[in-house]
Amino acid sequence: MATRERRSNEQTSVSVEFLWGGRFKKPLSQEALQFSSSFDIDKRLWRHDILASIAHAIMLGESGILSLSETKELVKGLIALMHDIEIGKVSLEGQYEDIHSFVESKLREYVGEVANKLHTARSRNDQVVTDFRLWCRDALCQLGKAILKMQQALISQAKQHIDTLLPGFTHLQHAQPVRLAHHLLAHFWAFQRDLERLKEFLSRVNVSPLGAAALAGAGLPIKPKRSANLLGFAKTAENSMDAISDRDFACELVFICSLIMVHLSRLAEEIILWSTPEFAFITLDDAWCTGSSIMPQKRNPDIAELVRGKSSVVIGNLMQLLTLLKGLPLTYNRDLQEDKAIVFNAFDITLSSLSVMSQLLLKSTFNTERMREALTGDFSTATDLADYLVQKGVPFREAHHIIGQLVLHLTEKRKGLENATLDELRLFSEKFDADALKILRPERSVERRKELAGTKKSSVQKQLKGAESEMEQTKKWLKSLRQLSERLKRYF
Ligand code: ARG
Repeated sequence: MATRERRSNEQTSVSVEFLWGGRFKKPLSQEALQFSSSFDIDKRLWRHDILASIAHAIMLGESGILSLSETKELVKGLIALMHDIEIGKVSLEGQYEDIHSFVESKLREYVGEVANKLHTARSRNDQVVTDFRLWCRDALCQLGKAILKMQQALISQAKQHIDTLLPGFTHLQHAQPVRLAHHLLAHFWAFQRDLERLKEFLSRVNVSPLGAAALAGAGLPIKPKRSANLLGFAKTAENSMDAISDRDFACELVFICSLIMVHLSRLAEEIILWSTPEFAFITLDDAWCTGSSIMPQKRNPDIAELVRGKSSVVIGNLMQLLTLLKGLPLTYNRDLQEDKAIVFNAFDITLSSLSVMSQLLLKSTFNTERMREALTGDFSTATDLADYLVQKGVPFREAHHIIGQLVLHLTEKRKGLENATLDELRLFSEKFDADALKILRPERSVERRKELAGTKKSSVQKQLKGAESEMEQTKKWLKSLRQLSERLKRYF
């Protein structure tokens, strides 16, 4: 029978059910229970805890540790409990140490004493990390879907703006003209790398620790590969002690979230900047910006600002988790209980940020005329003119100097490159002919740049195709992920 005892609390006479208690003379103090309970946080693992328990019970039955009828009773009870939580008949409330105690205690209400057999050859130490890995696997899937939506928003805007030109920036100074589609696609590839990281993460998170028991492995002849398989894990852990102590997967997920947030934050920063009247490159939809309580004229980009702000929290979460782990000896230490709040927080922020940013972007209007206007008098085709001289045999360094002098001359005359005359150009080099003036048009400039995925139209179109085929791959991958959690379904 599982070690269990009702320990009535003297101070409050609250009756709490613990999964331990045999070797204690006194009940746990109410304050200590409140301090140490993780139920408020880990109740979120209820479904994963029940699924892992179903797999464990089936495995115990197949290993001959439980009889067929005991196994059936346990599985039926767990399924009924899962259903009742789903429909709200059983609420995740009450005083429990954690979700594991809750599930076992509720199960007892459904199936009676046989519930005491569920924890055979299992410890909360392997149970909690099994639940957590299953949860992270689901989180990975949700993040994948949300990134895909973000990418779809970028692609949808990019498709409408293949012919929209704007200044590309370095040091936040006008550098060279680019297509808006090219700019938006640059963000697409950052999110694509996040997806790749998620894909690689799957191979490390999808390892079953169930069967490691407390730390040393189970003392009964169980079949850990079977429970792993039922839960859709690709393999079982190589070392029971590592299985219990390892939270690398949690760090990895929070790191991925941090990087997604950094990518979102950089995009948010551009949107904030571009929506200022000084830039006026973008107009946010009314439903996605806010006003001021005192200044009636205001339209503020609060949502983008909050995404930028919340990225600091997720980056902080990563530091929290690494710091939590760095001094822990093998194997389980109660400190580890703090891991879930950190990961849940990072995940929630990242998921909601992806969602708001994709909608905000999709509903925004790009002010194409304003962007084109910004290319006037900004010298952003100066490099093209230097390249022109290079093609006439002038060494690049010399060409750079000549164009630099020309720019200085025109600046002093308060003229842009597009207003320069051939005579003016020839003041600086004899090599300039009439065709040089055509070079100065941004439309020509972008079309010269096809190498290494440059901003030339055909190159951007090729990129778009590539991006769309990546999205198709992602959809297939997400579908295959969904199948992982469906193996247990035939028992329902
Ligand atoms: N609530 C605990 C956690 O999240 C479950 C494991 C408890 N294990 C133990 N040996 N006290 O880590």
